[in-house]
Amino acid sequence: MTTNEFLGKENFTIQNKTVSESCPSNIALIKYWGKYKDQIPANPSISFTLNHCKTNTEMEFFANEPFSVQTFLSGNEEVKFAEKIEKYFKNIEQYLPWILKGKYVIKTENTFPHSSGIASSASGFGAIAKCLMTLDEEFSGKTSEDESLRKASFLARLGSGSACRSLYNGLVVWGKSDEVEGSSDLFAVKYSDDEIHPVFKDFNDWVLLIHEGVKSVSSTVGHGLMNTNPYAERRFQEARENFVPMKEILKSGNMEEFIKLVEHEALTLHAMMMMSDPAFILMKTGTLEVINKIWDFRKETNLPLFFTLDAGANVHLLFPNDGSEEQIKSFIETELLQHTQKNGVVKDVTKF
Ligand code: DP6
Repeated sequence: MTTNEFLGKENFTIQNKTVSESCPSNIALIKYWGKYKDQIPANPSISFTLNHCKTNTEMEFFANEPFSVQTFLSGNEEVKFAEKIEKYFKNIEQYLPWILKGKYVIKTENTFPHSSGIASSASGFGAIAKCLMTLDEEFSGKTSEDESLRKASFLARLGSGSACRSLYNGLVVWGKSDEVEGSSDLFAVKYSDDEIHPVFKDFNDWVLLIHEGVKSVSSTVGHGLMNTNPYAERRFQEARENFVPMKEILKSGNMEEFIKLVEHEALTLHAMMMMSDPAFILMKTGTLEVINKIWDFRKETNLPLFFTLDAGANVHLLFPNDGSEEQIKSFIETELLQHTQKNGVVKDVTKF
């Protein structure tokens, strides 16, 4: 499928150029799980963009050399990643007609541990898409900042779906939803700050590293298994429907309903994995222990500590900076940290 709005200009002048860009990771509240051809999501999703977990990328372009890509992650050459990027660049040539007319050396670094299971593909492809748009402006002429960001989000999506949400800060929606004006399956849009209660504008996301290392089933394979999952259609419909209460909650600041919805989304994601054929489980014993402790803690204290999960065993602990955070932080240190592999926790926040 070609998308005319984003087709590249045929007039361009290339030259050697080095650009550097940085892009944060994000954590979904309503999850993207299941997609169609050309990275079209089966349902809309919404996420918090994080403030600290980022990928910093330097892209060197050598004009008029035979097309090739070399990649380095924290100084180490990554051949597999280079192959993936080569394929990606070939796939987006119609949107950046100069892209195959040179050689690339790409150096990336994450500000968070590689094995933490924090979506490095989101920040990674976000940063690459930003580098490509900076080069494009240099070679094909300037566009407005809005247009450039939108195209960066469009290009990031073609690398990794969730990456398209990382181009904007705050709360970000990807996928067509009747509840969100301007939303699209092709790129992400910022959820209007005016429609968000202040309590959601300063929120912690502490990632408990329950299991470090490669997970047994990749997200790409997991998405694919939704094609034959008998519950998939119902799930996609539910995710679409969940935008109705989510919109209400974001406006009113109803924390109790927010917690219920976000935890339900996380558990549904993992339920879908268990209902796949072949079935798979990415949660570990520690994941379940932590979830139960969070539920007990909430029952006892009524404090707003809750969780979401990505496609992995690690637990994202969510809690607002609303005055209750010190008690919550000390509970995490004394009760939850013991369930991690190596006392690992990545402390991030979304602030906008
Ligand atoms: C569970 O964006 O990593 O994190 O599009 O195949 O690259 P690809 O998948 P990816 O899937 C992320 C799924 C998720 C939920 C979410 O971020 O919405």
